[in-house]
Amino acid sequence: MLFDRIAELTREMRAAGADLADSAAIERFRITYLSRKGHIAGLFEELKNVAREDKPRAGKELNALRETAQQILDAATERLANDTEAAQDMLDVTLPGRMSQRGHMHIVSRTIEEISDIFRRMGFSIADGPEIESDYYNFEALNFPADHPARDMQDTFFLDDEHLLRTHTTPVQIRLMERFRPPIRAIFPGKVYRNEVISARSHVQFHQIDGLFVDTDVTFADLKGTLVTFARMYYGSSLKYRFRPSFFPFTEPSAEMDISCYLCGAKGCRVCKYTGWLEILGCGMVDPNVYAHVNVDPEKYSGYAFGIGIERTAMLRHGFDDIRLLLENDMRVNHQFN
Ligand code: DAH
Repeated sequence: MLFDRIAELTREMRAAGADLADSAAIERFRITYLSRKGHIAGLFEELKNVAREDKPRAGKELNALRETAQQILDAATERLANDTEAAQDMLDVTLPGRMSQRGHMHIVSRTIEEISDIFRRMGFSIADGPEIESDYYNFEALNFPADHPARDMQDTFFLDDEHLLRTHTTPVQIRLMERFRPPIRAIFPGKVYRNEVISARSHVQFHQIDGLFVDTDVTFADLKGTLVTFARMYYGSSLKYRFRPSFFPFTEPSAEMDISCYLCGAKGCRVCKYTGWLEILGCGMVDPNVYAHVNVDPEKYSGYAFGIGIERTAMLRHGFDDIRLLLENDMRVNHQFN
């Protein structure tokens, strides 16, 4: 009986509809019920055998049956699409993480920090001064004679007759002694400027740390003790060192400190220019002529000073052979020091 078959197919399709979990099952459902040779088409075929008075009802029920089949099919198709989308949105915790870029200190800043830390532990405080200096602080009070070559236009960026970009961090010692009475024990890191041709060895802007210790009875032995301690803490406890006589206008006597080249074990290499020694800083006892500018009595007080080039230090420590790598912010270089 056609009406029974319709009722039966409706139940069967509803049951099958719940299991349509993938596109193959959906397609099978379509072929079974809705295709030209499917069950529903088959029942439409039987319409012609139905008694005349039953035809309108049979046609109506068959149409309803076909509509139900289509609805089941549409619902299953939509459900499958939603499930796929949800699966794509799901967090896959087994995927490897994506590295986020973290900021880090520049190698120059880090070198300043490392050096400052060592001196801080030896009782030095940190001071600073202006990068735009007057001729007085940068040269005159530091006992540079009027005709000293460092004052030459070739080395110094003059801003006007009186002002310049400081060529070293040493002028901060004058500012400190003007403001404070001894004992003074401080280091002063900062930027310095020189009107030089840019090359692997020199740049127009670089960094220094100067130091000053003034008190009663400060001797050259104190200077050596402090600087040797610094060098051993920074470069390694087993290094050998030597102090060579030198000249700076603001110190007397003056010296330069060398350490044995740890790159080649003092055998001689390109970095130490085959001498086995690396020059790491300039130093000396504060010249009495400097004290005269800041009203410190040289009969009562004595002191030492030193100056360290930061880029040079970082280059020695990390084996750079070109200062431009440190100053020109090539990220391929910077990222190696994080
Ligand atoms: N100011 C010197 C320079 O730029 C370095 C220096 C040498 C600083 C000896 C000092 C010192 O304080 O005592 O070359």
